[in-house]
Amino acid sequence: MTTDTGAELQRDHAGRLRHLLTLEGLSRDELTHLLDLAQFYVRVPGEVPARDQGLWGRTVANLFFEPSTRTRVSFELAAKRLGADVVNLDMQSSSRVKGETVLDTIYTLQAMLVDVFVMRDAEPGLPAYVAAHVAPHVSVVNAGEAHVSHPTQGLLDVLTIRQRKGDLGNLSVAIVGDLSHSRVARSTGRALLTLGVGDLRLVSPPSLMLEPHALAGASRHHSLAEGIKGADVVMTLRIQHERMSAEDKLDAAAFYREWGLSAENLKHARPDAIVMHPGPMNRGVEITSDVADGPHSVIRQQVTNGVAVRMAVLSTIVRNVQERNVEAGRRAV
Ligand code: NCD
Repeated sequence: MTTDTGAELQRDHAGRLRHLLTLEGLSRDELTHLLDLAQFYVRVPGEVPARDQGLWGRTVANLFFEPSTRTRVSFELAAKRLGADVVNLDMQSSSRVKGETVLDTIYTLQAMLVDVFVMRDAEPGLPAYVAAHVAPHVSVVNAGEAHVSHPTQGLLDVLTIRQRKGDLGNLSVAIVGDLSHSRVARSTGRALLTLGVGDLRLVSPPSLMLEPHALAGASRHHSLAEGIKGADVVMTLRIQHERMSAEDKLDAAAFYREWGLSAENLKHARPDAIVMHPGPMNRGVEITSDVADGPHSVIRQQVTNGVAVRMAVLSTIVRNVQERNVEAGRRAV
């Protein structure tokens, strides 16, 4: 499996985040700063959304080569609420076969003064590849890279846990289901470990577990009841059929019988446990409707937090690029 790349590439010469390609290499302070800024932008449904002019005059392009509803829309709303112009390109129908074709698209948009590319792709490596080729004032944000990483989802997940449960150091968090194909498990797990979560558990059938060295420090469990026992947070994941080969395809009914999160088996977790899911959900496969819509669920709060986190990320990288430009300008005079 391809490992996460981009930890070095995402920083400028002074160490500032210029792109967000991965949560690997971000310090506890950097993560906390992004979460605090996101919290500043959080508004609940019914309130007027937070607005800011941090991206005024800037242009953000959303390039999604894989389907997306909440991530794409939340990046669009985040950019607009920061005052940016936004263009959405439906790349799923594009005839891309090689990286060069994508670069042509990138250079075309860059010539139209796009400042930030938000990218999702089924192949590993595209966000870093594009980041290595864009002009110095242009940023790339990874909105989901194959099975490898999904940094803004990791941030919104830990923000949701922090809001509901406070200090991560005292918490047991179980991530359950199709871990091997999940960029969410990798990014959320990384953020939790960097922030010092008390106990991180990876819970899945052996065939869907993460590769051996991933998320070192987490414990591994092959029984749902044992894995979520006494957990404060249970995060379940979609089965990613689109990343499985024909012979690996799972029987959804059999998976549900052993791994579906129902009100009955949620009793193994703490009575005040929260239930999370990044969406889109397969109701009746990895989670039942009564749990997804029930009192433990914070799934809609995750979605609300997604916009705030993306505002925090966009405003941080654009501000960092502006700082760098000011410094470069000073050196030039
Ligand atoms: C996830 C993704 O695309 O990685 N969804 C999301 O971004 N909210 C999870 C999934 O597709 O199952």
